[in-house]
Amino acid sequence: MCGIVGILGQADVARELVDGLKRLEYRGYDSAGICTIVDGQFGRRRAEGKLKNLTARLDAEPLKGRSGIAHTRWATHGAPTVDNAHPHIVGDVAVVHNGIIENFKPLRDMLLAEGRVFLSETDTEVVGHLVARELEAGKSPTEAVAEVLPKLHGAFALALLFRNDPDLLIGARLGAPLTVGYGDGENYLGSDALALAGLTQRIAYLEEGDWVVVRRASVEVFDRDNRPAQRPVVSSGVSATITEKGNYRHFMQKEIFEQPLVVAQTLHSYLKPLQGQVALPIPDFDFSGVKRVQIVACGTSYYAGMVASYWLEKFARIPVEIDYASEFRYREPVLEPGGLALFISQSGETADTLAALRHAKAEGQKIAAVVNVPTSSMAREADLLLPTHAGTEIGVASTKAFTCQLAVLAALAANLARVRGKFSADDEREIVSHLAEVPAALNAALNHDEAIAEIAPLIAKARDVLYLGRGPEFAMAMEGALKLKEISYIHAEGYAAGEMKHGPIALIDEDVPVIVLAPSGPLFEKTVSNMQEVRARGGRIILISDAEGIRQAGEGTVATIEMPQVHPLIAPIVYAVPVQLLAYHVAVAKGTDVDQPRNLAKSVTVE
Ligand code: G6P
Repeated sequence: MCGIVGILGQADVARELVDGLKRLEYRGYDSAGICTIVDGQFGRRRAEGKLKNLTARLDAEPLKGRSGIAHTRWATHGAPTVDNAHPHIVGDVAVVHNGIIENFKPLRDMLLAEGRVFLSETDTEVVGHLVARELEAGKSPTEAVAEVLPKLHGAFALALLFRNDPDLLIGARLGAPLTVGYGDGENYLGSDALALAGLTQRIAYLEEGDWVVVRRASVEVFDRDNRPAQRPVVSSGVSATITEKGNYRHFMQKEIFEQPLVVAQTLHSYLKPLQGQVALPIPDFDFSGVKRVQIVACGTSYYAGMVASYWLEKFARIPVEIDYASEFRYREPVLEPGGLALFISQSGETADTLAALRHAKAEGQKIAAVVNVPTSSMAREADLLLPTHAGTEIGVASTKAFTCQLAVLAALAANLARVRGKFSADDEREIVSHLAEVPAALNAALNHDEAIAEIAPLIAKARDVLYLGRGPEFAMAMEGALKLKEISYIHAEGYAAGEMKHGPIALIDEDVPVIVLAPSGPLFEKTVSNMQEVRARGGRIILISDAEGIRQAGEGTVATIEMPQVHPLIAPIVYAVPVQLLAYHVAVAKGTDVDQPRNLAKSVTVE
């Protein structure tokens, strides 16, 4: 959730630190700050809110110094005030932190009892005090950090700067990612490769429990037992221009329009269209022994899993259970031998999902992960990696990663159906041909952008919005409601169309727009009946369907959004586009911050 950058440079680093934070702002934007060493003293600038406030602060009061650390925050402990903004300085050490120190309370109490004074409400300041205490006792910075790290419980990535040694940065990771960047006569720390994209392509990913002593001329990594460790230096392949919007107004808009391309890229590594076959990039794994599938994810990734649960049961006839990651471990799920646990995550770092993955692994499940960041913790810890190729996603509300997840999950369902003898070669060929049509269908859906923009004002005025769908479109109704909530701050609920009569129908009046997702197909008539129940009560309906569906049921609606006619299997992927565009245009109409909605973060690395 928070983002970290550290630089030991040859020239002043303030501007590069802020550039790094710009690329990390997707991780949180409650406050930001930087700290450098200027003539043997710490210099610090911090600001509440978005990074532009910090930039303004730095314009007014520039900061020199060739060594520095920087942070963009998603608040956990303590309100997003300047005092709580990182870096925190305690004596001769400055620290930035991503994650949560779970035992910060007893540590803080102990430090308070020693007469130490805290200037913030954060858990992070505890780390500063613990290290400062060791320095005051005569330890060197490395000795001090080695002493303190085992005392910290929870999940964290840390970067520390020492006033008396401007050629030193110390980093540590446990449960939150941290990378080392290698430059020429310069070295860096960053939360991810993207943070360092403007500085270097040469990156080493730290392992769990690692800590690292960075100097301009050297990098020494130690494992959790303080033994020297080698972590391979790889090319990050991340370009700094990825974080530019091009001709689009927002990253979210750009990413919505990238979907035909990135879904095609993703399908390319899962299908052999000419042979009419699915070919997962894990050819050696034998799925025939899999007896059930447990899906676990958060947020939008959870709704991708929900769509997949319909596909896996319908096509592969395999029992599926799906949980929110934050619930999974604590309900003590019964996980039998032979189970496949499937984790879905754009970032591959979401703390709840990662903890659930580790739990399932400890319980002997085979771990598959559908992940967009190939170097992430989940990608590295999974037995079976099913990558999505959406490219870097910057908009906090996930769009292109979601449709790529669906593409992978559809291929997985078809693969399992074949392995379990539920698909003949002809069935497989047919499904592959439908999947191969997805990029074109996404393009056709995107062509309705202007029409959707015209509908947005109808919704922008609403206080509550209902989304209805059946089967996989129920999952899409949930995703549509989530998108609207996330970026336009309008209360929205996704409901199973048939379940509406058991409660939410009481909400229906002329002020509550009801968005109905109903592709023509086996569930169309039943969904339309539920839609008529809304209409009979004065509800204002926006119907998303294909030409045939609109012809049959469009009458009496306040608006319709026409989608291409597609096979029911791929309808959820295609119907992602109108719900994304609708949320997007409503947010634009309301003037909210589309790419960085309030209180959210793209990657939530605390539980
Ligand atoms: C956050 C983001 C969502 C995302 C969810 C899961 O809440 O704001 O857009 O869907 O995390 O993230 P993941 O990286 O695990 O897919």
